[in-house]
Amino acid sequence: MNAPWDGAGRRIHMQEVGPRDGLQAQCVFVPTAQKIALVDALSRTGVAKIEVSAFVSPAAIPALADAAVVMRGIERVPGVVYTALAPNLRGAERAIEARTDELNLVMSASASHNLANLRMTRERSFAALSAVSALARQAARGVNVSLSCAFGCPMEGEVPAAGVLDWCGRFIEELGARGVTLCDTTGMAHPGQVVGLVRAFRRRWPVAELTLHFHNTRGMGLANVLAAIDAGADRFDASLGGIGGCPYAPGATGNVCSEDIVHALELMGFRTGVDLALLLAAARRLPALLGQDIPGQLVKAGRRLDLHPLPPSLTDTAQRASACGL
Ligand code: COA
Ligand code: ZN
Repeated sequence: MNAPWDGAGRRIHMQEVGPRDGLQAQCVFVPTAQKIALVDALSRTGVAKIEVSAFVSPAAIPALADAAVVMRGIERVPGVVYTALAPNLRGAERAIEARTDELNLVMSASASHNLANLRMTRERSFAALSAVSALARQAARGVNVSLSCAFGCPMEGEVPAAGVLDWCGRFIEELGARGVTLCDTTGMAHPGQVVGLVRAFRRRWPVAELTLHFHNTRGMGLANVLAAIDAGADRFDASLGGIGGCPYAPGATGNVCSEDIVHALELMGFRTGVDLALLLAAARRLPALLGQDIPGQLVKAGRRLDLHPLPPSLTDTAQRASACGL
């Protein structure tokens, strides 16, 4: 395999989670029409998958109480998979009714975070996920399982890789999940750990759809993406503007930023299939939509070769120097 900084045209699938992970903890309620416009704009960028919303209890996540209206209101671009988080049977029924392509089931690798986020033990969660998978199968919808805190738990610390792999095995072999997402819910992952887990996963399940979901909480997001690619991963969640974070995980902050990651990967020779100009245009609208600054870097700095004019006070001097051939 090539070094991780030599993409050599390798395809990387970008999955946008801004409308779900990004909006779930926002203080402002983004109006439904604006959410639909955001998803429609993202659909045209070339991303492989969009997590449109979460069919969760509106009391738990008020910001996404309009999931069904959003899912029904978006324009479906062929080739894009429209997924949504569904934590239980009630959520799955609502998601299926709203014509969601794929259900993203969720539980946590750590007992404490599972309790804080889903209010049940992991075994109870797994039993609930079995029922949801059966329903999804009946309705001919895909199933992905997101495993939160796969790289560490803010309440328990280290989460052993062996346990994470055991859960992955149960999702793939017992539930028949098409894919598994390893979530670094509070940015505790580091490159060596990522390489170990991705390699071990790939050895056991060479063809299962594996997604890495990193948060940039400790500034290691891009390093972790590159480490994962080096270990054989090719599918990443990221959120527009780098917004996001689980409201039930202490210290959680935004996901890796979609436009920053696409910019970096394309410079390195990977092929994301994403139109960066369209992605940036969508990201530039976020601060006004959310009423606050966003963590993404590219929106502020521009692309690497976006040029800026010389300050006006120096323009005359520069023109004179150029006329004199200096
Ligand atoms: N959609 C809509 N309403 C739901 C629902 C769903 N998927 N799941 C539960 N509810 C409603 C119930 O109808 C009930 O409403 P009522 O009080 O009006 O009767 C209420 O929520 C409580 O239901 P209960 O079954 O007791 O669930 P709970 O309160 O233990 O909630 C979860 C469990 C996991 C469903 C809920 O905490 C939740 O949705 N959490 C969100 C998790 C999340 O998205 N975290 C961030 C991303 S990982
Ligand atoms: Zn997340």
